[in-house]
Amino acid sequence: MSSDQKTFYIETFGCQMNFHDSEKVVGTLVSQGYSQVQSEQDAGLILYNTCSIRDKAEQKVFLRLAEFRKLQKQGKRFAVLGCVAQQEGEKIFEKAPHVSMVAGSASYRNLPEMLTQIESGSHRVTGLDDRRTDQTFETEFTARGNAHRGYITIIEGCDKFCAYCVVPYTRGKERSRTAESVLREARQMADAGFTDVQLLGQNVNSYKDPSGKMSFAELLRAVGEVEGIKRVRFTTSHPRDFTRDIIEAIDSVPTLCDHVHLPVQSGSSKVLREMFREYSREQYLERIAWMKSTRRPISITSDVIVGFPGETEAEFQQTLTLLDEVQYDGVFSFKYSPRPNTPALKYIDTVPEAEKSRRLQVLMEHQREIQRINYRKHIGQIIEVMVEAENAARAQWIGRTSQNKTLNFSVPAGVQPEIGSYHHVLVTQAFPNSLAGELSAPLNA
Ligand code: SAH
Ligand code: SF4
Ligand code: F3S
Repeated sequence: MSSDQKTFYIETFGCQMNFHDSEKVVGTLVSQGYSQVQSEQDAGLILYNTCSIRDKAEQKVFLRLAEFRKLQKQGKRFAVLGCVAQQEGEKIFEKAPHVSMVAGSASYRNLPEMLTQIESGSHRVTGLDDRRTDQTFETEFTARGNAHRGYITIIEGCDKFCAYCVVPYTRGKERSRTAESVLREARQMADAGFTDVQLLGQNVNSYKDPSGKMSFAELLRAVGEVEGIKRVRFTTSHPRDFTRDIIEAIDSVPTLCDHVHLPVQSGSSKVLREMFREYSREQYLERIAWMKSTRRPISITSDVIVGFPGETEAEFQQTLTLLDEVQYDGVFSFKYSPRPNTPALKYIDTVPEAEKSRRLQVLMEHQREIQRINYRKHIGQIIEVMVEAENAARAQWIGRTSQNKTLNFSVPAGVQPEIGSYHHVLVTQAFPNSLAGELSAPLNA
């Protein structure tokens, strides 16, 4: 490798928004003449795209920076992007003096200029836009890592200010792209061979078309009608803004997938009020009832926090009964983690760590049992999957269903399904987190 070649390594932590931001950052860097390498050692510029949603997530970047600090002596540069960058700002330069750039997601559209500054030797380049900007990061240079399945950001930021959450402080205010720009990107993806798109936003259904042409449900329909697109997903939905027309769109447009991720956080209306979630248990369950009344088998998943300050045993039990009522197909559950700047920091964190761990354990076991039963209902069904990968060790292929479930399947000897192709699979086995089966019809049938 010649010494004048510009190389970078990037590691991404956190949510799908961060993952997709990294795809845009990679595309931008490549368009600026950089090439991507697979290790810190091989790179001239090392970027970490960070997450600060919980304390453990936040610590990861500082561990990495400490681990690779010695590489600075070889002239390598370090950049911290994402939510820790926005949250900690210039304090990062004090904690880790070998870092040359700190940039939050609201400033990525200025990346080319920031890169030029680094190249010309600046040691403290910042892009810390916080909640001032109303612009989104749109680029033609997105470097998607998968050729069939890809993300499109439709709304950035968050204006909800839930009591426990850093995102409104790290991602800036809510700002949407125009429907026209989203549809243009969806068409370009379809032309490039993508068949599965996922619309992204911290609160994807709070989408507001700046040109006023389309509601979120109308945009969903329009993306679902783009020629060549076979599957449309969207995440994450906020229950407060979850309107009935979203369900009606799913019910009438076949390409919209049978899956809604609708984080509830708690089954207790009192805890929800203290979290500033702006819906009650009853209002949440009303939305679930809408989904269950459709013709489509909509799979529902959620996020839950246990041990929020003041959560009593009885309130925790209400979360368990809510899981029973909804019958989720998947739940991401977390122990409450106090976060900088958030209103919940002022609450007294009454639930001891050991009790938080116990509640988390109880909840996970409870939910596992629900999934064991739910997943078993698929045995005997023939389900369409998109082929995602081969699991050579097990002589199986990994497929994904419209409901976003993993369905591993075997094929007759000599048959080789293509990655990204769609096939029907007969389900023969069920586990709490995946299904298994066999190809139900010969390929090309
Ligand atoms: N915008 C989405 C969620 C984004 S963050 C929504 O409102 O549903 C992903 C999940 O992390 C949240 O749903 C929540 O369950 C969890 N989370 C956020 N802040 C947290 C904190 N301080 N402690 C523990 N879990 C947290
Ligand atoms: Fe965080 Fe609430 Fe915004 Fe979700 S809606 S990102 S939980 S503040
Ligand atoms: Fe983490 Fe920021 Fe996403 S805090 S979860 S990377 S929005």
